Amino acid sequence: MKNSEMGTKLAAQPEQGRSAVKQGLWTAVLAAVPVGMMVMCIATSMNLKTVAAAPDDYVTKVQPIISAHCAGCHNPVRLRGGLDLTTKDGIMKGGEDGVVIVPGDVDKTLLLKLIKHQPPAGGPGAMPPGNRPALSADEIAVIEQWVKDGAVIPADAAPTAVPPPPARPAAAPAAAPPAN
Ligand code: HEC
Repeated sequence: MKNSEMGTKLAAQPEQGRSAVKQGLWTAVLAAVPVGMMVMCIATSMNLKTVAAAPDDYVTKVQPIISAHCAGCHNPVRLRGGLDLTTKDGIMKGGEDGVVIVPGDVDKTLLLKLIKHQPPAGGPGAMPPGNRPALSADEIAVIEQWVKDGAVIPADAAPTAVPPPPARPAAAPAAAPPAN
């Protein structure tokens, strides 16, 4: 009987049997350390990658949208809603209703609700307001991703360009698309 033979052997050398078990445990623990460190390193490098990409996103993707669609009404001179969207300070300070961007939290970011035309009841309306065209789905996706990534604005980003004042009211009807 092999089993009983083994039992006898182990019983005969109880110390050896126990230390072999201990050694096995230690080997397992020591093997787990490098694996754990590797997992942590991979996770960290993935994180760094996201954070590193975000500053570029603001300058290359987000600023052009704000410049074209928002900065005309939200700049230090024309502070509609008490909100300046042309600088990091202005964006993070928010407007009359408080903070407009919560970095990393898409659901709490008022600015996203407004550009998605889901304004909160009793608060500011959809942006851009009036009969101005809404942002495209791509533009909204860019801003949403940027908020998700932490709404990073590099400290040295230049203020967003403010477009020249809108055309005179008389020119507006001609520029509007035909209604049908
Ligand atoms: C034609 C002018 C105009 C343009 C263009 C415009 N806004 Fe506004 N915005 C306003 C006014 C006026 C308010 C004040 C609240 C209201 O009337 O709904 C406001 C309010 C806001 C608020 C709320 C501020 C607060 O604390 O109450 C946010 C956020 C905002 N705008 C974002 C944007 C974004 C983003 C864009 C571009 C996609 C944009 N706005 C384009 C006029 C404008």
